[in-house]
Amino acid sequence: MIDELLKNELGDRKIFKDKTILSPHYVPSELPHRDKEIKGVTQIIGPALRNEKTSNLFIYGGPGTGKTCVVKYVIRKIQEFLNKPEMVDEGILVKVAYMNCKIRNSKYQVLLKTLEDDALNDEKLMDAPLKGRSEPSLKGMDPADLYDRLFRVVEKNNMNLIIALDEIDMVKKGLNDLMYILTRINDELGAGHVSVVGISNDRRVKNRLDPRSKSTLCEEEMIFPHYNAVQLRTILNQRVEEGFQPTAIDDSMIRKIAAFAAQDGDARYALKLLKKAGEIAQNENKNAVDMEDVEYARNLVEKDIMTESITLLPEHQQIVIYSIASLAVDGGMYKRLSGRGTGDLLTGEVYEAYEANCKALNRNPRTMRQFSEYLNELEMSGLIAMRLSGKGIRGTTRLIRLGYPPNEIKRIVSKSLGLGSD
Ligand SMILES: Nc1ncnc2c1ncn2[C@@H]1O[C@H](COP(=O)(O)OP(=O)(O)OP(=O)(O)O)[C@@H](O)[C@H]1O
Ligand SMILES: [Mg+2]
Repeated sequence: MIDELLKNELGDRKIFKDKTILSPHYVPSELPHRDKEIKGVTQIIGPALRNEKTSNLFIYGGPGTGKTCVVKYVIRKIQEFLNKPEMVDEGILVKVAYMNCKIRNSKYQVLLKTLEDDALNDEKLMDAPLKGRSEPSLKGMDPADLYDRLFRVVEKNNMNLIIALDEIDMVKKGLNDLMYILTRINDELGAGHVSVVGISNDRRVKNRLDPRSKSTLCEEEMIFPHYNAVQLRTILNQRVEEGFQPTAIDDSMIRKIAAFAAQDGDARYALKLLKKAGEIAQNENKNAVDMEDVEYARNLVEKDIMTESITLLPEHQQIVIYSIASLAVDGGMYKRLSGRGTGDLLTGEVYEAYEANCKALNRNPRTMRQFSEYLNELEMSGLIAMRLSGKGIRGTTRLIRLGYPPNEIKRIVSKSLGLGSD
């Protein structure tokens, strides 16, 4: 069997020409339909090349709208520019530190990662944070020390430092403080500047900031729109040209994938479908991707997305979604009261089931208020939908409906919370 698998991997490459082109981390040399956004980001951070303090920028847009790749693209272009000494005046120093806050999720971690970034540890720099240490490590230093080191390297080198914080909503501890520090540093610096590019697909991150930090981060703001089906086709075609064999996938498949992904305007989803459809065709030793492969890819990708979004939820939200799924299996009270099998559940019955499940798991149930917040979060992640009931069914209440098959959700949560076979 393994021979067969390896042959598929290495074999005649009937489907893919270069699969790395389809990797989520690959940034193509052109980003179709993002000219305006590329120009916008460049105009906001570009003045650093003239030694001017650039405005802070907050970039918001739904998942897969190209925020990360546009910012990385502009950073790459700035770096290419800086590598040509004839283009930039002598003495001008621009450095960009990019990080994803999913991993660096506290003020401390962000400061630490900034100091550890290669951008600040170039051997030509004075007072580079890691310079001259036999065991380069800043871990364990207190935040005030980290701040001093950042201050020194920026000031001593008259540096324009741009810190790009991708998925900034993931900074759970000290986001306000972080913004405050990064503004205060500019007031105190005798030379050099620090500015921030914050990126998020969650608009609510702004509400977590106090007014002062909010206006700091959102000095400039850009919104990335969703892609439509036509735009997604261009994006897909670009990858097909570079990554697929010439006749391995035809236009009708690309149209179909673009149409599926256009429902959310999400290029990541479109590219996942494209790659998965190619893999399915490859595993079946076909010469080209057909419609069945695309449909099957869609099922698999949907399942992956659902599994990922559930297993990443905090424990109590997993218990809530499990409670919803358990009730949904038998239809719940709304069905009994209204006689309509709409799949809607009453908030009260879900809370009761949640309390019971918490007890069974030896967890303390949270208050009704916190529980309502969990429901809002689950709605934001697209796992449930809510609407208000009309009068008559227990007064007006919120009705909850599951976005995915209940048995599937129960299976995933059971596994994630270690609930045995149920
Ligand atoms: N205009 C484009 N041209 C080519 N590829 C694109 C374009 N926009 C997005 N992509 C690709 O789609 C995928 C998703 O894009 P990206 O990671 O930039 O989305 P995002 O807006 O950062 O999403 P999220 O909010 O989930 O982080 C990436 O593989 C990226 O290369
Ligand atoms: Mg991103």
